[in-house]
Amino acid sequence: MKFASRLERLQDKALLNAMELTETEDMISFAAGFPSSDTYPVEAIKNSFIQVLELEGKEALSYCSTSGHIKLRKLLAKRMQDRFKLDFKTEEIVITSGSQQALDMSGMLFINKDDVVLFETPSYLGAVNALRAYEAELVALPTDENGLTMDSLKQAMDRYGERVKLIYVIPDFQNPTGRSWSVARRTEFIEFISAYDVPVIEDAAYSELSFENKLESPLSFYDKKGQVVYVGTFSKIFCPGLRVAWLCARKDLMEKYLILKNAADLSSSAIAQRQMAYYLQNYDLDNHIKWIVGRYKERRDHMMEVIDREFPQETRYSVPRGGLFIWIELPENKDSRILLRRALVEKVVFMPGGSFYPSGVKNNEFRLNFSNMSHDEIEKGITILGKIIREYLSE
Ligand SMILES: Cc1ncc(COP(=O)(O)O)c(C=O)c1O
Repeated sequence: MKFASRLERLQDKALLNAMELTETEDMISFAAGFPSSDTYPVEAIKNSFIQVLELEGKEALSYCSTSGHIKLRKLLAKRMQDRFKLDFKTEEIVITSGSQQALDMSGMLFINKDDVVLFETPSYLGAVNALRAYEAELVALPTDENGLTMDSLKQAMDRYGERVKLIYVIPDFQNPTGRSWSVARRTEFIEFISAYDVPVIEDAAYSELSFENKLESPLSFYDKKGQVVYVGTFSKIFCPGLRVAWLCARKDLMEKYLILKNAADLSSSAIAQRQMAYYLQNYDLDNHIKWIVGRYKERRDHMMEVIDREFPQETRYSVPRGGLFIWIELPENKDSRILLRRALVEKVVFMPGGSFYPSGVKNNEFRLNFSNMSHDEIEKGITILGKIIREYLSE
C-alpha cells in the first residue's frame, strides 16, 4: 500500500511509546505528561452526567452545534474574563476535542507544504507532530529563562519573511521545560510580532497550574490585533478523558476554524460538553484547581529534594514554578537516549529531550514528569536514575 507523504515526517514515536509504556506494570514512569488520575473528581463527574441525562438527556445524546454547547462557551467566556481578563466573546470560542484538535485545525487552516512554522524550543511534541503533518518546515527558535529569545525571532522573521505562516508558543509552565515567559518578554513579543500579519498560537494548557498562586496575563491579553489564537483545555485542570478543550479566535478566523471543525468531526461530544457546563455551574472548579496544584507542588518539592540529593553536580536543572515537568541537562557530550535504555532495564522511564526539538535536535537533555507518581515511586525512581546518571557520567 502507498501512504501519504506526510506520514514520513511523523516517524518520531517517542510520545506514542511513552503513552504505551505508562500502561506497563511495575514501570515507574516520569515519561508521559499526564495529570494524576487520583485528582479526577470522579464522583462530581458521575453526578453531573446523571443530572445532565435526567435534565437534558435527548440533547446530550444528540449532535451538538459545530461551535459547541452555547452554555459551556458562555461559561468559558466569563471564566477567562474573571481569571485572565481576556475579552473573548462567546462567538469567538469553539469547543474542540482536546486542545490537540485545536492544534491540528490550526495547521489545517494556515499551513501549506513547505511553509515555515516557528517554534519556541524545546516544545510540546504533540504540537510538533500535528504541525509537521502539514508538511511545513519547522524552525526551532531558542528559549532562555524568560521565554522565546527575541533576537532569534527577529532573525527568523528577516530570514523567512512571508514564508512564516504560524508561530507556536506555550508561555506558561511550558512543556517540556516547566519555564514561563516573563511579563517583559510577553509584551516585547507582542509589540514586535504585531508588525507582521502572522498568526500566533498561544497554547495555555498549563496556565492555571501555578504553585505560587500567580496567574500571568496571557499573550492574548496584550494582543490588540486579534493576532493570537488562544487554546485552552480542561485536560490538566480537570481530566483529559472527556476531551473537552476550546480555541478562541477573532471573528473572521473563527468562521474559517468552524468550517474545518465541521469537516473534521461535525462537533465535539455533546454529553461531555454538557457535563462540563453542569460541573462549572454547580461545583467550584477554581477550588478544585487549588487542591490539585497543592498536590503537584508537594510532588515537585519531593522530586526536587531527591534530585538535589541523588543527581551528580554536573546535571543542571531549574525549579519549575508550576506545570508538570522538570527539565534536566546533562553535559553536552552525553546522550539521554543511552540513559533511557539503561533506565528501562531498571523499569524507570522518562522522555529523552531530542524528541522535543522540531529541528536542530539536542540529545543531552531529558524531561521528568512529577505529577503522576507517588512519593514512594518518586523516591525509588529518582534514586535509580541518580545512580545510572552517576555511572554514565563517570565513563
Ligand atoms: C502543551 C500541550 N498542549 C496540548 C496538549 C494536549 O492536551 P489535550 O488534547 O488533552 O487538551 C498537551 C498534552 O500533554 C500539552 O502538553
